[in-house]
Amino acid sequence: TANPDTATDAYDLVIVSNRLPVDRVVDESGEASWRPSPGGLVAALEPMMRSQDGIWIGWAGVADEEIEPFEAGDINIRPVMLTEQDLQEYYEGFSNDTLWPLYHDVIAQPSYHREWWETYVKVNRRFADAAAEVAAQGAVVWVHDYQLQLVPAMLREVRPDLVIGFFNHIPFPPYGIYSQLPWRRQIIDGLLGADVIGFQRVADAGNFSRAVRRLKGYETRGPIIEVPIDTDDPASGSHRHVTTDRRGGLVRTVLARAFPISIDADQYQDLARRPEIQARAREIRQELGNPQTVMLGVDRLDYTKGIGHRLKAFGELLAEGRLNAEEVTLVQVASPSRERVETYRQLRDEIELTVGRINGDYGSLGHTAVAYLHHGYPREEMVALYLAADVMLVTALRDGMNLVAKEYVATRIDEDGVLVLSEFTGASDELRQALLINPHDIEGLKETILQAVAMPKRDRTRRMRALRRKVLTNDVARWSASFLDALTRSAHGDHPLQNP
Ligand code: G6P
Repeated sequence: TANPDTATDAYDLVIVSNRLPVDRVVDESGEASWRPSPGGLVAALEPMMRSQDGIWIGWAGVADEEIEPFEAGDINIRPVMLTEQDLQEYYEGFSNDTLWPLYHDVIAQPSYHREWWETYVKVNRRFADAAAEVAAQGAVVWVHDYQLQLVPAMLREVRPDLVIGFFNHIPFPPYGIYSQLPWRRQIIDGLLGADVIGFQRVADAGNFSRAVRRLKGYETRGPIIEVPIDTDDPASGSHRHVTTDRRGGLVRTVLARAFPISIDADQYQDLARRPEIQARAREIRQELGNPQTVMLGVDRLDYTKGIGHRLKAFGELLAEGRLNAEEVTLVQVASPSRERVETYRQLRDEIELTVGRINGDYGSLGHTAVAYLHHGYPREEMVALYLAADVMLVTALRDGMNLVAKEYVATRIDEDGVLVLSEFTGASDELRQALLINPHDIEGLKETILQAVAMPKRDRTRRMRALRRKVLTNDVARWSASFLDALTRSAHGDHPLQNP
């Protein structure tokens, strides 16, 4: 139901992200429909948008389609068009083949191409223009993630009246890595257009501040960054929280701090209580041949997730006879992602080769060692899988947060199940009672997997209870409220320094 008025309305809250909460899908007969889009960002923001009258600006997931503003389940949506070339150079290229590997500690080699950068600038401008067009006077605009790092400054330039927030959903790398980027100064300038810049971990915020000091020479005081004001700039008079620095020069202050994201924990609990979902969980175990232990991995098929390390550890445990495929099954859900990017194609081939080898060597007609699923599933099925899994394996080599770990914990209303969690995820800062692992240490990972399989019920409950307290208290509503609170206070010239 397209609403032609939407574009001319002015909104007090504008969300800007590369991907919309819904993806346009066109079937063979040319019939178009919408389905929920993948990734943690959407899962985190959707509940907040349902409860507020804002607008969401983003890309609909298909190239070359001009789509009018519309409403999707209570959410006002204003699509931004990407051409096939934008898709290749801005999305697949600069976002996912330059920034993504760079920001994830160069697990894969980033590609640096000047044409990709130019398209990234051009597309960021398009998003900024779209936001400038729909934002009411003094509105709050919240920009998301690495695809749109230039938007805050572009927006401030044309609309200095706006309160601008930016949240980085992925890690921000240490300076020694970040400094590889040929456009490292432009990105910093882009981000510093915001009033508040949010990161997942305290370490990410620290990495960012250090990059600001090294590349721009600006002063920082804890989470506050002092950005000198160019008094020749006509917009300079409209800046908020202007103060003087130690040398008496005019500066505006920007807050850069950790706001660890979370999930709608109640929604997962509610699903876990449903009898039909519990029945489905039992059915899943049956379909797997009723193994004593079900282990589970759930990831977008991405090289940051450490799926290969997980399979290596599992394969070795089977080879050494320390686990037996008659008794233990590993379910690996690997949802398709960024399939036209070469590194992702190679990863898929490697993972599927490894799964085939393990199953060929250790499986039998009745028991597959690895039940591998290259699909995305609806939330109901995911909750049934979480309920069916005795051990959840999160072995990411680098991950901004990892919401799967939190989903597993929220789902386990029975206070059972063991979470094995990589210390290279943002989630490991909070989820200290998980079995924390270094995925590069295959021997250590193997020992921990065995520990998880053998853990007595009493210990499982004790750990899961503590984990659940964390996830149920720090849910996504609290996350968005605390970020928006920091933004609103910043509009009044006040920067909250501590986590509320
Ligand atoms: C991560 C990123 C998101 C992204 C999602 C899915 O969660 O932080 O920005 O939307 O992955 O990736 P995709 O490239 O399909 O949007």
